[in-house]
Amino acid sequence: MKNDLLLRAARGEQVERPPVWLMRQAGRILPEYRAVRDSLKDFIELVKTPQRAAEVTIQPVDILDVDAAIIFSDILVIPEAMGLPYEMVEKRGPFFPKTVGNEADIRRLKVADAEADLGYVMEAIRLSKQALAGRVPLIGFAGAPFTIFTYMVEGGGSKTFSKARKMMYQSPEICHLLLQKITDSTILYLKAQAKAGADLIQIFDSWAGILPPAHYSEFSLPYIAQICASISEVPKTVFAKGAFFARKELAQIKCEVIGLDWNMSPQESRGLVGENKTLQGNLDPCALYGSDASIRKETRAMLQAFGGQRHIANLGHGVYPDTEPDKVRCFIETVKEWKNSEEF
Ligand code: CP3
Repeated sequence: MKNDLLLRAARGEQVERPPVWLMRQAGRILPEYRAVRDSLKDFIELVKTPQRAAEVTIQPVDILDVDAAIIFSDILVIPEAMGLPYEMVEKRGPFFPKTVGNEADIRRLKVADAEADLGYVMEAIRLSKQALAGRVPLIGFAGAPFTIFTYMVEGGGSKTFSKARKMMYQSPEICHLLLQKITDSTILYLKAQAKAGADLIQIFDSWAGILPPAHYSEFSLPYIAQICASISEVPKTVFAKGAFFARKELAQIKCEVIGLDWNMSPQESRGLVGENKTLQGNLDPCALYGSDASIRKETRAMLQAFGGQRHIANLGHGVYPDTEPDKVRCFIETVKEWKNSEEF
């Protein structure tokens, strides 16, 4: 691997500078992505066409010079593989025509077979690895079981997630049945991604922050812990957006990296997590709406707060769709120019 900064930082080895990539860097912001996307019927067709998915996976490496690629796919391929297909409604987001409401619905779902049901993701990983030719590592990913659960019960995004949360109060055992089935599918899926060539995997618990701490400990953490305990092939990152209350518990999980959103202070998080994990994040995505001077100032302050080692520079959540690519470049260049010695 020519540039293995990400893997060294994840394992806690010395680095010359922190590696940098952006969550949601593939898709969303690049005109080159739109061009590929518009040449196909829709988003789902792009996800299921390995050659084209690999092409947009590589774009941020070629165009933005990030230190890692992330495979172009979506967290919602898991519900689909389990028997709950989704649609992606332009400008509105995901929609599931069928949802899960009771035990019979869950019994009808299957544990996803990674090669048979999600072979298109594995093929996209193999093609991306070929095209990368060792330039930078390739990140694989999946949604955390709890976040996937919310989509399967709600049928889409939500402001309150009250359907999913009602189920947690009314029928917790039904929730656990579904969460376990998602977990079993996700373990097989991530193992297959590692086998296909993913160098590191990230678990996105995007809606972690909607739960009270006790529910997070009951309905999310144990399933993330199971996944991480089952995968020793590659380093693992857990990003639990909004779960500031669970940082100590997350530190107990068998993963190498913990992702922080922009509400979490780097110093306080280091204190809670301890010295044995790498932290990823956490510039406010809105900082990229600022002037170049302001982006440089904010980025340097962030780098300094993390201290240069055991840190993977990133945003605190996915890059917003209306961010100018030049602003993203400014962020990336600032990280690359930064020297650990600036601390002193
Ligand atoms: O870096 C990357 O962009 C790689 C691919 C990737 C996508 N989705 C492609 C996508 C990744 C890592 C995801 C993860 C994902 N998907 C998450 C977790 C990360 C996060 O942001 O919290 C979630 C919650 C989803 C579910 C999802 N998919 C939503 C809510 C939407 C609609 C709004 C949006 O753009 O996020 C999607 C659609 C989606 N997934 C698009 C892309 C590029 C846009 C659709 C399009 O191009 O038409």
